[in-house]
Amino acid sequence: MTDLLTVSNLSVFYGAKAQAVENVSFSVQQGSVVALLGANGAGKTSIMKAVAGLISTKGTLTFDGVDVSAMPARARVKRGIVYVPEGREIVGEMKVRENLVLGGYHLNGRERRSRIEMVLDLFPEIANKADRSAWRLSGGEQQMLAIGRGLMAGPRLLLLDEPSLGLAPMLVRRVFDRLGTIRRETNLAIVLVEQNLAMTMRICDHLHFLRGGQLVGYRSAAELQDSAARQEAIDAYLGAAAAA
Ligand SMILES: Nc1ncnc2c1ncn2[C@@H]1O[C@H](COP(=O)(O)OP(=O)(O)OP(=O)(O)O)[C@@H](O)[C@H]1O
Ligand SMILES: [Mg+2]
Repeated sequence: MTDLLTVSNLSVFYGAKAQAVENVSFSVQQGSVVALLGANGAGKTSIMKAVAGLISTKGTLTFDGVDVSAMPARARVKRGIVYVPEGREIVGEMKVRENLVLGGYHLNGRERRSRIEMVLDLFPEIANKADRSAWRLSGGEQQMLAIGRGLMAGPRLLLLDEPSLGLAPMLVRRVFDRLGTIRRETNLAIVLVEQNLAMTMRICDHLHFLRGGQLVGYRSAAELQDSAARQEAIDAYLGAAAAA
């Protein structure tokens, strides 16, 4: 399979001395789901923002054979790199449907309408609330809206930053199952940032473990089918806090 995204020797600095990410390299194949796992402050969001073009970085990012390292964020979105930030960041005062329109601002009217249909089909929970203000949605519904807004842009690579944050396990399962459907239907690749290994296992193919801004371990999902192997990875890379 071809690599859709290649990250080579990525480093992120905040100011002169604070290095948040150090020489990180990994790749994402078409249609695959790659998880980045690590504790608070490990550098997960920094990597996602770097790939999205939202912060300045060192290193090389190749997307679909093109060096996008110096490309502005908007140009990366056009090529299909779409970031769904942690904390959802939907526009509460706007209606659910208007939030979706925002995600597809570059589309013509017909394409936009058909994509809104697609998103609402995928997330029926928000379909019957499409004309409500977004702040009236529950946390899980807001997460669905945030992912839906990302899908409006027609991503080839979706960067999902802790979609499970603050959600009940049942809702997380629902969101992840839907992501599995999208992925099967559209050959979408996903980079998923999470702290919870068990949930991540539902969807991902590859897992990279991050500590102190560095990649410290890798496991394929197949290697972690066994619960003893999962526990071993948790002990080695995540610590007890992430085991729940
Ligand atoms: N805007 C910023 N300015 C200065 N330092 C920052 C900034 N954003 C992040 N950092 C620092 O960079 C490091 C990595 O942060 P990052 O947000 O990438 O971690 P994370 O793995 O996403 O953590 P979390 O799980 O808490 O979201 C941390 O030490 C953090 O304090
Ligand atoms: Mg983060």
